Amino acid sequence: MKRVLAAHCLLLSLRCGAEAGTIPKPDPSAYNLCAGCHGLDGTGMKVGDLKLAPSLLESPIVKGDPEWFALVVLKGITKESDTHLEFMVPQELSLDDTQLATVLNFVRSEYGGKAAPVSVEQIAAIRAKYKDMTDSITRAKLAELAKAKETPKATP
Ligand code: HEC
Repeated sequence: MKRVLAAHCLLLSLRCGAEAGTIPKPDPSAYNLCAGCHGLDGTGMKVGDLKLAPSLLESPIVKGDPEWFALVVLKGITKESDTHLEFMVPQELSLDDTQLATVLNFVRSEYGGKAAPVSVEQIAAIRAKYKDMTDSITRAKLAELAKAKETPKATP
């Protein structure tokens, strides 16, 4: 798989830099963890007029930088409105790096408009970077982190 991807990078000049490493195949069974709230089709499990959780199909977090998607699943995302009935639970302790990469890759390929896959090594680095973060992530914090990442560092 790794070799196939590398060949694609050479042949098609894909932006493969970030995806180098071990890329687990998107496995639908990994999504069992999420389906109870986000629904079997990713649109959010309905309860009458309400939903347990938001649709993943329109989520910019799912399609975007895998760092934010991984963080949301590792730490959970703080509930800031009563639009959805459930809570996004932190899964840091229940998923190892391969399992997390597998579920993210399934969601990104199935509901994320074929967003680029994530490697086990990327997940390991993200987990290590945020190991001291004990609270669930907030949307404001995500925006702040994203802004800091985009802003080029001052030259030393
Ligand atoms: C117990 C229910 C529950 C489970 C299980 C769950 N989620 Fe969530 N998730 C939520 C709720 C509720 C929110 C919305 C939180 C809020 O903003 O109030 C959410 C938010 C999200 C978001 C942010 C969406 C956005 O852009 O607003 C993503 C991405 C996400 N979940 C992915 C996942 C993935 C992937 C899994 C499985 C590994 C998963 N969730 C498992 C309940 C759940």
